[in-house]
Amino acid sequence: MKYFVTTAIDYTNAAPHIGHAYEKILADVIVRYRRTQEPAFLLIGVDQHGQKVQQAAQKEGIAPAEFANRVTDLFLALWEKLNIRRDGWAATTDPRHRRAVQKVLQALHDKGELYKAKYSGYYSVRQEQFLTDRERNADGEFGAEWGEVILLEEENWYFCLAKHKEWLLNFVRNRPGFVIPAFRHAELLNAIDRLSGDLCVSRPKERLSWGIEFPFDPGYVTYVWFDALLNYVTFAGYEADLGSGLPNFADLWPCQAHIIGKDIMVPAHGIYWPIMLHAMGFPDDQMPRLAVHGWWNIEGAKMSKSLGNVVDPARLVERFGADAVRYYLMRDIATGHDADFSVERLLVRYHSELANGFGNLVNRTINMVQRYRSGRIRKTGSGDSDIEALKASAVAALGRYKEAFDQFLPHAALEAANDLVTQANGLVELKAPWKLAKDPAQSDLLDDVLFYLTETSRFVASLMAPIIPSAAEKILQQLNATVYNRLAWGELPDQHQLATPSPVFPRFEE
Ligand code: MSP
Repeated sequence: MKYFVTTAIDYTNAAPHIGHAYEKILADVIVRYRRTQEPAFLLIGVDQHGQKVQQAAQKEGIAPAEFANRVTDLFLALWEKLNIRRDGWAATTDPRHRRAVQKVLQALHDKGELYKAKYSGYYSVRQEQFLTDRERNADGEFGAEWGEVILLEEENWYFCLAKHKEWLLNFVRNRPGFVIPAFRHAELLNAIDRLSGDLCVSRPKERLSWGIEFPFDPGYVTYVWFDALLNYVTFAGYEADLGSGLPNFADLWPCQAHIIGKDIMVPAHGIYWPIMLHAMGFPDDQMPRLAVHGWWNIEGAKMSKSLGNVVDPARLVERFGADAVRYYLMRDIATGHDADFSVERLLVRYHSELANGFGNLVNRTINMVQRYRSGRIRKTGSGDSDIEALKASAVAALGRYKEAFDQFLPHAALEAANDLVTQANGLVELKAPWKLAKDPAQSDLLDDVLFYLTETSRFVASLMAPIIPSAAEKILQQLNATVYNRLAWGELPDQHQLATPSPVFPRFEE
């Protein structure tokens, strides 16, 4: 069984922004870490159907498929630029997905989990959903967040949610780890408590044609969320035809984590999705876990096209490189909470922690080994107490690092690595190898200092590799240690020969 992680699939109604990039980097970093422990699989993708895409295409006077494909290409290009290593690609217009969604609809229909009914009410065009009195604000109005609201009567297909409410409540209550971070658990339970009514899962074609057709009622297409949520199983091979090229479902499921933003936990991922799986016949122990992250804001405000404050991640990568962007987005936010994006913060983190911190340690270490020992390190076992302290800290850092990753907290994993860098840079000042080099009686101590500074550099490169893969690789090359890229302390052998140093983290003008 592989450690299977997915992200939300991104809407193809507009270009990617920093929020999309953050989520994909977070998933990529977690899965890169996991791959050091066990086989792992990352599925990401795009949400190509629905009213928003149809409307965006209409505005431009082109077909929805053309519009969706164009935006899809922007996402694909961005994931290349950002070094996101995906194992699967979920694009919801893929015919394999369509066929599997239709099989699921048919099976749910056969089981009596879908019914057709007439409904008349207020409808939000923007959110593509009917509104109830619960959506009214204190003034009794439907707020601006719903956009244009119209009165609509329609016959549609409904998915039975309400009858599974008790099951879901019990399930979530008894599974505290279902949602991480833990503080979201209560929020979800409250939302389930308020659940009433069923979910409309069809749209008449006259109103929306850009979707997956109902197999038993061709006048309708599938509601975009119902279609989109199913990507997590269809692209893992659920109900796939023979020779589809998709994975073997049993190798991947259950999913270890759906990595999603806080805005789509309720109702989609925390209510609709587990009930869908339950109705499809998935047992409780096969339910996926939700890892819910917060949002990147701009000066405290939501990023939005109308505010004109949307940050284009592709431009950031062009300016600073993928590693700097990845590092910042992992370092300056605690998973689950929000953070404020700014280029100044990116530069502060990059310069202080990468250029002056880790980069400086690596660079001066290799330089000193070259200068004093022609590039060869020797382990002399001096027993020096400062070196012993560094070794103990390295072992402790690895523990902190793994614990942080188990809780989906890369910022804390990086903190552990950076603390070790600070201690190692401190050791350079403390031992002043340039002085030791002048005293033949200190030769063994100098060797030991250089040996452990080198091993610390190698070790930290391995710790940072999931976050900054290209820079870590370059550093390991300079240490002539790409074969020692392992998450363990004490990997470099005695008499190891280093290669030549060259700065890996160039400084940027502020
Ligand atoms: N298509 C749906 C998800 C379907 S999953 C079956 C969707 N797409 S989205 O493009 O609007 O958002 C994709 C992901 O990006 C979501 O998890 C969302 O929370 C995340 N983010 C969108 N803006 C964000 C920020 N400003 N900051 C961090 N993540 C944010 O929702």
